[in-house]
Amino acid sequence: MLRVEKVSKHYANSVKGQITKAVDDVSLTLRQNEIFALIGESGSGKSTLAELIVGLQQPTSGSITWAEHLQVPITDRPASFIQLVFQNPDRSMNPYWRVKDIISEPLRLSKYPKKKAYSKAEELLEKVMLSADFMDRYPAECSGGQKQRIAVARALSMSPSLLVADEITSALDPTIENEMLQLLLSLKRSEGMSILYITHRLDTISGFADHVAVMKNGVIQEAGDTKTMLSDPKSDYTKALLRSLYYT
Ligand SMILES: Nc1ncnc2c1ncn2[C@@H]1O[C@H](COP(=O)(O)OP(=O)(O)OP(=O)(O)O)[C@@H](O)[C@H]1O
Ligand SMILES: [Mg+2]
Repeated sequence: MLRVEKVSKHYANSVKGQITKAVDDVSLTLRQNEIFALIGESGSGKSTLAELIVGLQQPTSGSITWAEHLQVPITDRPASFIQLVFQNPDRSMNPYWRVKDIISEPLRLSKYPKKKAYSKAEELLEKVMLSADFMDRYPAECSGGQKQRIAVARALSMSPSLLVADEITSALDPTIENEMLQLLLSLKRSEGMSILYITHRLDTISGFADHVAVMKNGVIQEAGDTKTMLSDPKSDYTKALLRSLYYT
């Protein structure tokens, strides 16, 4: 569905003559209706790759194509196909807006009448398992987990084919994190979409992600089927990650 081919993003640093290879020669394929986990430590290039995929940044080299539409370059596809949810919901939510206006903003921008947009917002709240009581609340009146659900509902309003979730559970406690994973899993099934799930933790993806790629210093160290990688890791880095899980 989405093909990332030999994509690099190099930044020229403010320190003269130095460059950071945030993403370096990365290739991967995202299939339809699958959850793809991208794992890596802080600074490994995960968010940069997410922003390249969403089109917020342009690669230094390489190409990202949308196979569903016959190799259309990613920059030419309608904006709604891919939606990004950030790690910090406060970054993407206006604190002075009510939840119903936050969720229905993308619909209003695509010329939905207000009443219709609100009733759609209520449906979307239900999809992320929040009651209609949330419609009139402000972000400050919602918990971190609830805010992430609202951010997901907002992304779903555009019926994306691909949802990119960049560390959306990092700030949540394990129970709420697990509920969020269950929600994403059920959305994958009910909406038939694909999810690129970005995390620094390898221990949450078993039984959740179909495929996984492990990234370090901008380079994919290993990629493949989740079950196989967890049971039979090939790269030294993945082995070390798994060992650190079992001994902590
Ligand atoms: N605009 C920029 N200019 C220069 N360097 C950058 C820029 N954005 C990111 N970098 C560098 O690129 C590398 C990858 O950053 P990125 O944010 O993609 O990592 P990450 O894997 O998302 O980390 P985290 O888990 O902390 O979110 C880092 O070394 C970072 O310092
Ligand atoms: Mg990041």
